[in-house]
Amino acid sequence: MAGTGVFSEIIEGEVYKYYADGEWKLSSSGKSVSIVNPTTRKTQYKVQACTQEEVNKVMETAKVAQKSWAKTPLWKRAELLHKAAAILKEHKAPIAEALVKEIAKPAKDAVTEVVRSGDLISYCAEEGVRLLGQGAFLVSDSFPGNERTKYCLTSKIPLGVVLAIPPFNYPVNLAVSKIGPALIAGNSLVLKPPTQGAVACLHMVHCFQLAGFPKGLISCITGKGSEIGDFLTMHPGVNCISFTGGDTGVAISKKAGMIPLQMELGGKDACIVLEDADLDLVAANIIKGGFSYSGQRCTAVKVILVIESVADSLVEKVKAKVAKLTVGPPEDDCDITPVVSESSANFIEGLVMDAKQKGATFCQEYKREGNLIWPLLLDHVRPDMRIAWEEPFGPVLPVIRIGSVEEGIHHCNASNFGLQGCVFTKDINKAMLISDAMETGTVQINSAPARGPDHFPFQGIKDSGIGSQGITNSINMMTKVKSTVINLPTPSYTMG
Ligand code: G3P
Repeated sequence: MAGTGVFSEIIEGEVYKYYADGEWKLSSSGKSVSIVNPTTRKTQYKVQACTQEEVNKVMETAKVAQKSWAKTPLWKRAELLHKAAAILKEHKAPIAEALVKEIAKPAKDAVTEVVRSGDLISYCAEEGVRLLGQGAFLVSDSFPGNERTKYCLTSKIPLGVVLAIPPFNYPVNLAVSKIGPALIAGNSLVLKPPTQGAVACLHMVHCFQLAGFPKGLISCITGKGSEIGDFLTMHPGVNCISFTGGDTGVAISKKAGMIPLQMELGGKDACIVLEDADLDLVAANIIKGGFSYSGQRCTAVKVILVIESVADSLVEKVKAKVAKLTVGPPEDDCDITPVVSESSANFIEGLVMDAKQKGATFCQEYKREGNLIWPLLLDHVRPDMRIAWEEPFGPVLPVIRIGSVEEGIHHCNASNFGLQGCVFTKDINKAMLISDAMETGTVQINSAPARGPDHFPFQGIKDSGIGSQGITNSINMMTKVKSTVINLPTPSYTMG
């Protein structure tokens, strides 16, 4: 159970502690932040409301801890990461329980998130020892006008303190996708978890403590965004920010200083369906891609662009599958569970009502109880409807019927987002041309968008983000290149 057994030291009374300087602590604010269970809509957990002074202390210790961590042999860093991964997997049950209660993630998916996170940490260790175990050796006589008098040795060095801010939908997995690369590369890490998901993150961080990471190297600070959000992201002690979330990321990017940023800010992933597509495959992928975790994924299918001649047939197939989705509490492992908050449910409802008023066809009756919204397919959506462009982050999926592939590509590219997209066709030549024309970070051919496997590059263009993630790219992003040039008095050629 969450907060018991090896996790009993991370909670005092009913309030979870924050983690700094290798210890679990109570905030001097004496205040807490409540975490509302999306299903019951009652307070489930409480976490510390940390102060700006506590942020300052965390930054100081992170800076000191990083200096000696950077001198810790790479194989030892990897060994500790493997240990943390094993401990995390061993304690998957209480962490998954917190995910079910805080973010209403279906029970099985919650366990999968924790296991996937352990695998991700181990992969970071493996990839890091190889990637960072190599540098480059350059000689000067390849550039015009030079003789071979200069040898350049390059290696990848840590950035310093990495600030990681994951979102509510994968609080554990998207935290470790930042923690793993940062630590293997020799950085220290300050984690600011989302409020919903904070308790799962605190448990995950404790697994790193149990693995024996040095004190101050990892910290987890909880609190109100209004109190410590800007203070953290604009803190002079931060050397890199890795953020996943919504519009807040745009504000962070504008306010951050001269530091590398890794940003993933959502998407409006289009699913383009051609006449020759395998419609059963498309329907299965629309269900998985559009309705998993109730559509609360950046990479969810968020608009279907289907050629008119096969639209009726596709809509019927999707409708039949939507009817089979189970709707209810995450504890029962239902397919569709309550969305994260009342404000999120209200926003989704606003998009649905706008589409209704403008004449969209409802394939199911719109139904909502509290934060629980029944899955809904909206047919005959037109570009003047908000849902054609906005990201609902809920189990609500628009279908736009198109007269040509060009129309589909145009709609996809007119979006301010550009995370992923997908195209369904049996013609690989057409698929490649469409993929090249789509202005998105990734295009999936004959499958729904997805971030994983976690070592694949993952990036958005336009408002979907800055930089590329995936394990290898994240390790590279969290390092900088250092060169040493050896200058010789005379040209020297090996065996020359
Ligand atoms: O919403 C977060 C985004 O990274 C989605 O991940 O694994 O569901 O494709 P995934």
